[in-house]
Amino acid sequence: MTLEERFGQLSQYRRDHIARVMDVMEALANAHGLALEDACLAGWGHDLARELARPDLKAQAQYLKIPIGLEEAAEPVLLHGPIAAQWLKRAGRGNESVWTAIRFHTTAAAGLDSLGQALFIADGVEPGRQYPERAALFELSLRDLKAGYCAVLDQTRRYLLWRALPLHPDMHKALAECADHVTAT
Ligand SMILES: [Fe+2]
Ligand SMILES: [Fe+2]
Repeated sequence: MTLEERFGQLSQYRRDHIARVMDVMEALANAHGLALEDACLAGWGHDLARELARPDLKAQAQYLKIPIGLEEAAEPVLLHGPIAAQWLKRAGRGNESVWTAIRFHTTAAAGLDSLGQALFIADGVEPGRQYPERAALFELSLRDLKAGYCAVLDQTRRYLLWRALPLHPDMHKALAECADHVTAT
């Protein structure tokens, strides 16, 4: 199946989300001098595997030789980023930066480059998301990408705590890198 066919199989809800993420990626790319083509491709591809059923996520990860850690075994939805990244790579679309951004768009990770930070931000602040801090986080991210990334990470951390959900180890490492950007709460 081609990537375009996979995109075409997504729900209208998901395609609308993807379109809004691409809009935010374009704005962040323009604000921070990122390659527009990479930014749009990362936004377009990031949720291509988001609507696979849990057993299919596990099967696809095994087929693509993606490691399934304890967290991914417990919550296979975590695999949708790594799977989409592999799909793009195998299709010869994008580059390492795009694939890494897509792979880590759910958890973030230590050492993410600007594109990866932008995609994590865009997924969290696209206008379909509804929480009070959303617009301010978008504004901050347009002014200062790293500060925006760290603030969206912190917002995600607090949301997960509130829902009593565990933090992924990659998110812990990303947060550690932000220690000087985030005020304690
Ligand atoms: Fe996603
Ligand atoms: Fe998304």
